[in-house]
Amino acid sequence: MAQKVQGTEDLYGGYMRAWQHMLDVARDLYGSYGFDQIETPAIEQVDTFVHGIGESTDVVRKEMFRVFSGALLPDVMERGSEAHLKPRQRMAMRPEGTAGVVRAAVENNFVPQGGAPVKVWYGEAMFRGERPQKGRLRQFHQVGVEVLGASDPALDAEVIIMLMQFFERLGFSRDALMLRINSMGDAACRPAYRKSVRQFILDHADEMCEDCLERAEVNPLRAFDCKNDHCREVMTAAPLAKDNLCDDCAAHYAQVKAYLDEAGVAYVEDPTLVRGLDYYTRTVFEVDVAGSGVGAIGGGGRYDGLMELEGGRPTPGIGYAVGFERIYLALKALGISLETSAEPCVYVACTPDQRAKVFSVAQQLRAAGVRTEEDYQGRSLKSQFKQADKVGARICVVLGADEVAAGVATVRDMASHEQVKVPLDELAAYVAPRLAK
Ligand code: HAM
Repeated sequence: MAQKVQGTEDLYGGYMRAWQHMLDVARDLYGSYGFDQIETPAIEQVDTFVHGIGESTDVVRKEMFRVFSGALLPDVMERGSEAHLKPRQRMAMRPEGTAGVVRAAVENNFVPQGGAPVKVWYGEAMFRGERPQKGRLRQFHQVGVEVLGASDPALDAEVIIMLMQFFERLGFSRDALMLRINSMGDAACRPAYRKSVRQFILDHADEMCEDCLERAEVNPLRAFDCKNDHCREVMTAAPLAKDNLCDDCAAHYAQVKAYLDEAGVAYVEDPTLVRGLDYYTRTVFEVDVAGSGVGAIGGGGRYDGLMELEGGRPTPGIGYAVGFERIYLALKALGISLETSAEPCVYVACTPDQRAKVFSVAQQLRAAGVRTEEDYQGRSLKSQFKQADKVGARICVVLGADEVAAGVATVRDMASHEQVKVPLDELAAYVAPRLAK
């Protein structure tokens, strides 16, 4: 039997409706904040991710799905490397949305210099070659937002508030959510901070795992969230970003917290929150659901240097993304369903001699916007009624020879079993409001 790739899922039925519901909530909420939807390509040049996310991150080093056309693949395999390929021939499936959005902003020049910030949201599949487990997939879905062109700390607070509102609209109560925040500093203060963390790791080399020793050279801050408990314990004594911020970053962070306090948003300061992508500067945040066992359901932060890394003018940015599959699981653990029921429908049943009439009545109902089901298998009237029940029809329209001759249909309410005769040309007007109820 053909099988899907491990760590991927089929979205259909209620699960698909849950994803669509999440997109509807996003469109509605983000629309009210003035965001436009964007969709960037699922494949980008590798450099877009390497420059943006960072060469030393796990996402770039270990998790990106590389893409080669059938024409290039044999050559790459034979040479054992893609080094000879032109940059535009080196492609990868997007592991996240931010780098692609910023690349699009640079390439299409859609952030006006000195103008109002550009606000976009997306809902798309992302691809990461991680070891699949609960809440960790190789193809998963994110809803995210990006705001390009403003560095005001009020915006950081507003973006975080919008994230929490999004979670609430999906069904979480505020108490179920734990919001953690931190400041990562910027180009002025981070290099020195990284150096001091590197030195700390080297000073404790005999207590740290191999991975952390490697991290000391390539990405020392990642040692704060090493999977090894002992490393994390050692790191509790390491220098913290918040104690090493330059004056501007410290002031920015203090203002973000003041705005959150003013808005009554509960948060926990987590000085070890470093995030897995290199482009972050200043504010970073993550949201977990205690006891859900799925990891963070969303996270994001400010990335004031990313536009330049993608070849654009210096332009500040901030955003976040949430994971659909993790949210679905976390809500389920709380006994809340993200699934919406299927749209109510009408079933048009008939005696076998009236098949042609069903065809035209169904067309007429659909043209009026009524979701309509019918039988294509020549079932008996009785089994058509059963089928109507099974598909959850709210109303069954029955066409027999007598009805059709009289220009009417029998309309049966599936819940109350009440039946009335309705002229065929008034059918749509009769059923539409009854379905909407
Ligand atoms: P991220 O923290 O890597 O951030 O991913 C955001 C969310 O996507 C996570 O909190 C999680 O819910 C979900 N997620 C990540 N990896 C997986 C996976 N393998 N399986 C299932 N769900 C997953 C970003 O991607 C940034 N681009 C967010 C951002 C936008 N920062 C600024 N703007």
